Amino acid sequence: MRVLVTGGSGRLGRSVVEVFARRGHEVTSVDAFPGPERPGVEFRKADLLDDEARAQVFADVRPEAVAHLAGIAVPHARPGAETVAVNARLAWGVLDDARAHGAHSVAAASSPTVFGYGSADWTPERLPLDEGHPVAPVHAYGLSKAVIEEAVRTLARTSDGGCVFTAVRPGYVIAPEEWEGAPTQQGHTVAERLARPELAAASLFNYIDAEDAAELFALIAEDRSGAAQGRVLHAIAEDPMAEGPLSDLLPRFHPGTAAAAASLAPGQAAFSSAQAQRLLGWAPRHTWRERLRS
Ligand SMILES: NC(=O)c1ccc[n+]([C@@H]2O[C@H](COP(=O)([O-])OP(=O)(O)OC[C@H]3O[C@@H](n4cnc5c(N)ncnc54)[C@H](O)[C@@H]3O)[C@@H](O)[C@H]2O)c1
Repeated sequence: MRVLVTGGSGRLGRSVVEVFARRGHEVTSVDAFPGPERPGVEFRKADLLDDEARAQVFADVRPEAVAHLAGIAVPHARPGAETVAVNARLAWGVLDDARAHGAHSVAAASSPTVFGYGSADWTPERLPLDEGHPVAPVHAYGLSKAVIEEAVRTLARTSDGGCVFTAVRPGYVIAPEEWEGAPTQQGHTVAERLARPELAAASLFNYIDAEDAAELFALIAEDRSGAAQGRVLHAIAEDPMAEGPLSDLLPRFHPGTAAAAASLAPGQAAFSSAQAQRLLGWAPRHTWRERLRS
C-alpha cells in the first residue's frame, strides 16, 4: 500500500520507513531534512507547517496510510508556546489532510510523558500504567501530545469510519545504531543509561527498540478491522531498562510511586502495552539484554 511517513528522517522515523519498506509497502518519507537514502523509498523535502506544501505532498502521494512522526520531539528543546503550537498544528494539518485525501489509516506519535511523571510529587493511581490511566501533563511537550491524542479522538469521532485514527505512545526510542554505542536522544549511550539509573528514571525506565515501535505503526496501517479507531496504544518494552526491580528503583527517584510500585513483579516494566497486543497482536521482539549482547 502507499504509505506516507512524516518525520521519516528522524530517530524513530528512519526505522518506521525501513520496516514499512521491508514489508513491501510503497513508502514516501516527508521531512524538512533528508535522511539516509534507501532504495525503493521516495523522499520529499517539505515544511509540513506550510499548508500549501503539505497539501501538495498529499495530492501527489495519495497515501492509503500515514504514520505521523514529525514534530518537536524532546521536552524543553524549544520554548513551550512554540512546542505546543508546532506539534498541535502539524498533527491537525497532517491528520486532516490525510482524511481529505482518502487515507484509510493514520497513526500519530504521542508520548508516555502525557502522564506527567516529571514532577517531584507524582503519584500514579496504579502501576503498570495502561492507556486507561488518567493523563496529567506537566510540561508543554506533554501537553502537545495530549492535544494530539485529543485530535485523534476528535477525527475518529467524525470520520464515519472511513479513516481509522490512532495515537501511539512509544517508550524511550533506541535506534539501531544506538544499540551499537551511538548517543541516544538525551546524549548518553544505552550502556550509560543502565549504569546510571538516574538517567532512565526520568522516563520511569521505559524504552522501546525503534524497529519494534515501527512494527506497531505497520500493524495499525495494515489492519482493516478498525480495532484501533480513536485509541491510544502504548509501544513500550515489557521489561524496564534497569538491572534491578522497579519496586526498589522507582521509589528512590519518584517517592510518590512507592505504594503502586510494590505491586510490580521483578522484571516488570512500569507501563503495559497489553492493549496493542490484544487489538493488533503486537508485542515487542527485542529487549536491551538481547540487543546489547548481539
Ligand atoms: N524518540 C523518542 O524516544 C520518542 C518517544 C516518544 C515519542 N516520540 C515521538 O515520536 C516522533 C519521532 O521522534 P524522533 O525521536 O524520531 O524525533 P526526531 O527529532 O529524531 O525526528 C523528528 C523529525 O521530524 C522532522 N520535522 C519536524 N518538524 C517538521 C516540519 N515542520 N516539517 C517537516 N518535518 C519536520 C524533523 O526534521 C525530524 O527529522 C515525535 O513525534 C516524538 O515526539 C519519540
